[in-house]
Amino acid sequence: MTALVGRVAVVTGAASGIGRGIALAFAREGARVVVADLAGADSATASSVLSELAAIGRESVYLRCDVTDEASVAGLADAAIERFGRVDILVNNAGIFTESLVQNMTAADWDRVIDTNLRGTFLCTRAFINPMLERGDGRIINIASQLGQIGGVSAAHYAASKAGVIGFTKSLAREVAARGVLVNAIAPGPIETPLLASETEEWRSMKLAELPIGRFGTVDEVTPTAVLLASAGGSYYVGQTLGPNGGDVML
Ligand SMILES: NC(=O)c1ccc[n+]([C@@H]2O[C@H](COP(=O)([O-])OP(=O)(O)OC[C@H]3O[C@@H](n4cnc5c(N)ncnc54)[C@H](O)[C@@H]3O)[C@@H](O)[C@H]2O)c1
Repeated sequence: MTALVGRVAVVTGAASGIGRGIALAFAREGARVVVADLAGADSATASSVLSELAAIGRESVYLRCDVTDEASVAGLADAAIERFGRVDILVNNAGIFTESLVQNMTAADWDRVIDTNLRGTFLCTRAFINPMLERGDGRIINIASQLGQIGGVSAAHYAASKAGVIGFTKSLAREVAARGVLVNAIAPGPIETPLLASETEEWRSMKLAELPIGRFGTVDEVTPTAVLLASAGGSYYVGQTLGPNGGDVML
């Protein structure tokens, strides 16, 4: 478990679910980790991930951040660099999912989902990429979704945000790959997390019925892909969207 020894990673939305799993997996592989999340530092979710990181024995820090807010993201970048001197790996994972048919969708709901999932990915990337380019070394991993590839009923805003993340990933990858920064996306299928649990039973049953593998995935079935993309083994992946998705998408 040494794939990330000496590396510093920032994972957004890391107080819960997939981000939490990635933060812990990176720490197990030797990385020092910045856990960034909207949840307060004294929340139960923050305390839980911090105590697990402490048990792994890797240096880590929790920084509260709202990825939709430019000043908050700038503060995150400053604090992360002040603490660890540099950031080698950025995982843009913070995201939200709400359910609504387009015919009923409010503009506020549309904006909130796009702002968190897509604008947040842009703002965090912009805040961390320049020092990576100056050093000629960095990895950016954007957590998209299989719904960004195939769409989903009651999820047009979410699917649009995640399709945007995939387009952003490909464009940025083309801009920076030759300068040592590798940018890729992961588009998981439905994974058992608080986000999936918050969906209606109707939505979950509909999605389950569509899945070739016949079950939802677990966080541990996503984290190895993040470790691969963050580590030396991922050195020839550029602008890719990797899909631990139970067969929901087959390319
Ligand atoms: N669970 C799934 O089925 C699934 C499938 C595909 C993609 N994803 C994506 O994976 C990512 C993680 O999802 P999850 O299922 O672990 O969700 P989750 O709800 O368990 O965790 C999301 C975390 O993001 C944080 N967050 C939300 N808004 C934020 C903001 N503005 N700034 C900072 N942090 C914020 C939350 O506080 C929470 O800790 C999301 O981008 C989601 O879209 C999830």
